[in-house]
Amino acid sequence: MELDGARAHRISKKIVDWFMANARDLPWRHTLDPYAIWISEIMLQQTQVKTVVPYWNRWMKRLPTVEKLAHARETTVLKLWEGLGYYSRVRNAQRAARRVDVDLGGSFPNTRESISKLPGIGPYTSGAIASIAFNEPAPIVDGNVMRVLTRLFGMNGDPKESETNEKLWTIAKVLVDAASSIRRFDPQSNLSFSGPCSALNQGLMELGATICKPKQPACKLCPMRGNCIAQRDGLTDQIPDIAKRAATTRRYFFAFVLRRGESVFVTQRNPGNVNAGFWEFPNVEVRSLDLKSEKILKTELGIRVNELQLLGDVRHSITRYRIQQRVFAGDAIGKIRKEGVWCSLDELTERPVVSAHRKLLGKLAANRG
Ligand code: ADE
Repeated sequence: MELDGARAHRISKKIVDWFMANARDLPWRHTLDPYAIWISEIMLQQTQVKTVVPYWNRWMKRLPTVEKLAHARETTVLKLWEGLGYYSRVRNAQRAARRVDVDLGGSFPNTRESISKLPGIGPYTSGAIASIAFNEPAPIVDGNVMRVLTRLFGMNGDPKESETNEKLWTIAKVLVDAASSIRRFDPQSNLSFSGPCSALNQGLMELGATICKPKQPACKLCPMRGNCIAQRDGLTDQIPDIAKRAATTRRYFFAFVLRRGESVFVTQRNPGNVNAGFWEFPNVEVRSLDLKSEKILKTELGIRVNELQLLGDVRHSITRYRIQQRVFAGDAIGKIRKEGVWCSLDELTERPVVSAHRKLLGKLAANRG
């Protein structure tokens, strides 16, 4: 595939012009603050724009500066992130914020190289912040960009494998370098863009999110139709050629809502475990949901109850696991040997709670009133 300077310039210009006319009005597009952009980017790595908007707004209200994040309590940060998953990301973000606060006197680094030295910030995130906040010609390749570029250039390999992946980063760099020499650049007046490198990178991602979708791409609306090899050759169903996902595995749990008056018993996950710091109802993974719940409660958790009542099932997916939790409730008898606390449902709502049990908490609160 040949990508000389003139062709790269034409492609970049089309994407930048299209993006300037079609950029979605998203709250983080009203700022050039690298901290705010960083938070949007790490949230966008977890989930879709629609979900991120309220999370980002809530976060920026509560922790508007890198300094505020550096000094926030862990439970505040976990609560703001609750439901987005991969909690190590948000812990790393706080470590990075502390580094900026202590070592850099609170001023966020302003080059890709210096940004990438912060803990937990990889090539994608450092490129995104440097290009979006500072218009640096730093390339970025995420899932959307992979799809757009493999289709545009008719690339056959798996874009997650190293050979094709390296090619994609090289192309992304050539395109963003070409964008840096675009002279006429007219941003929409109500949004903030630092320059054409920002627009090129965000335009590539935006094309992938809104037009060049995985299934049934809207080629008729695409600014690149006429330049796109996959569209020309009818190959949008075959490109990108991504390896199939691993098959899913079913897992079963019993979870117990143990009551004492208005309080319920909850435990906190220990450091080093998945979702460390999050709260949950006592629960046990079981081979089958047909096992005797009282017995499991006593033998596995050392807890006795007067009578267990079946509340229902909560279903939940995480990575390749399809989880079914069967939930029981009862009044605990005697002392509980497990470490944990008794608290009201309202207090529990204020704490970070693992996703499956947050769903359960919603149901309990709804039943109550
Ligand atoms: N996905 C992740 N970051 C994005 C951005 N800045 N614009 C569009 N889509 C994105």
